[in-house]
Amino acid sequence: MVLHGPNLNLLGVREPGVYGAMTLAEIDRSLDEHAKKRGATVECHQSNIEGELVDRIQAARERAQAIIINPAAYTHTSVAIADALRAVALPAVEVHLSNVHAREPYRHQSFVAPVCVGTIGGFGARGYTLALDAVLDLLEEKKKP
Ligand code: DQA
Repeated sequence: MVLHGPNLNLLGVREPGVYGAMTLAEIDRSLDEHAKKRGATVECHQSNIEGELVDRIQAARERAQAIIINPAAYTHTSVAIADALRAVALPAVEVHLSNVHAREPYRHQSFVAPVCVGTIGGFGARGYTLALDAVLDLLEEKKKP
């Protein structure tokens, strides 16, 4: 399951110098195509509402093997999203389009990072396909005897 947080619905027009020119629909389409090539499927959702993201994380327990999440600004504020990820205990990857560590100090803290397998940031939209490959490799490794 791929989850996008607040304001990511505006990708393409929102600060393209920071977040790139690709729209969210284009990112989701490329993830869908990439997943298919690897025999997997993705379900992508965006929400501007913290509680909706929590609901999606909880729903992933029943329907997904892993979570790729860009919590956007909630990265830096949300105990609820971190708790939900901890509760479902699925392997999760945190993605950021920009390199948050090269930006304002308030973006350096992530509540989500400690409950994720890892974080990918600074590679633009490509970070999502890197995250997908990483998590699919991880799932395949887990299956090996
Ligand atoms: C972001 C980084 C966050 O700090 C910011 O609030 C976002 C997007 C990124 O993808 O680079 O909305 O998560």
